[in-house]
Amino acid sequence: MDARLRVGFIGTGRKPERAGPQGYGMAHQHAQAYRSLADICDIVACADISEENARGFAEMWGVPADGVFTSVEAMLAKVPLDVVSVCVWPHLHAPLVIQAACAGVKAIHCEKPMADTWGNCRLMAQECERRGVRLTFNHQRRFGRPFREAHRLLAEGAVGELRRVEFGSGNLYDYGSHNFDLSGYYVGERPARWVMAQIDYHTTNFVFGTHNENSAQAVWRYDNGVFGVAATGVAADLVGCHNHIVGTEGEIEVGAREPGAPVLRHRRHGGTWEAVDCGKEGLHGPGYIERALADVLGAVREDRVSELCARNALNATELIFGSWESVRRRGRVELPLTIGDNPIAAMVASGDLTPAPRG
Ligand SMILES: NC(=O)c1ccc[n+]([C@@H]2O[C@H](COP(=O)([O-])OP(=O)(O)OC[C@H]3O[C@@H](n4cnc5c(N)ncnc54)[C@H](O)[C@@H]3O)[C@@H](O)[C@H]2O)c1
Repeated sequence: MDARLRVGFIGTGRKPERAGPQGYGMAHQHAQAYRSLADICDIVACADISEENARGFAEMWGVPADGVFTSVEAMLAKVPLDVVSVCVWPHLHAPLVIQAACAGVKAIHCEKPMADTWGNCRLMAQECERRGVRLTFNHQRRFGRPFREAHRLLAEGAVGELRRVEFGSGNLYDYGSHNFDLSGYYVGERPARWVMAQIDYHTTNFVFGTHNENSAQAVWRYDNGVFGVAATGVAADLVGCHNHIVGTEGEIEVGAREPGAPVLRHRRHGGTWEAVDCGKEGLHGPGYIERALADVLGAVREDRVSELCARNALNATELIFGSWESVRRRGRVELPLTIGDNPIAAMVASGDLTPAPRG
């Protein structure tokens, strides 16, 4: 397919100079990435319920005046689009992705985490699948050099056969979504068989409007026998790095918390650490969203599956909701996960979890 792709936005965010922890304006980062792919796509429309945000975005990224909307429905009805970036908060991902899919776009690139309930995650994947719409999620970190190099070391057998993937993270859901995705990347994109977890939730922690625990420990096992371990919040020090990959003959650390440690290092059991050159690339960039969108648009043009496909995102996200479900059931949860709701939100609503208001 050689025709240029027409890109639209659902949710533009504020201008980046006002970015903060409850509003990063991720749409602007997507727009920067589409601009780097200007030989194959054009940003032709955007919709945001805030007119100020929509207009600010349009001005910054050259969206034509007749492509600026305060209603998603109006944008989808009036502008023919090939690709839509969905950059709203998680509780809006599923309804707006499904709306765009029903409008007949070819591809939807949605921000992570997938959705606010496990039922909505499966529903959005299902509705895109049966309409032939490519649905991808912005787990861009896997395109970063430290993560790619860790994957290469693993594939080359530098640490022997893979036994365990671990991560230390702020939480299981908001940031943890990236880390469960990376775990799936290291282990060869596969579902897990079971998951078992405990959380501490003593102070309300809303990130982008959705509950996140204060601290968690989770253990799971993939269908090839590899174990996963996650520690979040104060427990993250237990893992001591962003990703810890353990093989039969050695270990790899991405983003070790030890002062002065390189972003990527590995060693044989009993040996000394060897640093791996990752240029100037860190845990967050630069250039990762550009590479993510290059893969997404490449998949549309070349009729192939993107690494950021819904199937991989479901494998990752099942472990988030499965971990919380394990807390609710006080036991190990066999997968596939059959619940439809969000267990942490349900436990707060029922009074089983009683986080005190923050501050
Ligand atoms: N990939 C990453 O590393 C990363 C980093 C930060 C945030 N995120 C994710 O990006 C997503 C968006 O976060 P953000 O920080 O960009 O949010 P934001 O608050 O900056 O922007 C969201 C925009 O959505 C608009 N909006 C709200 N309801 C709408 C509706 N019904 N229709 C159209 N527009 C609507 C708001 O007016 C706002 O402009 C979240 O899911 C967040 O988790 C991802």
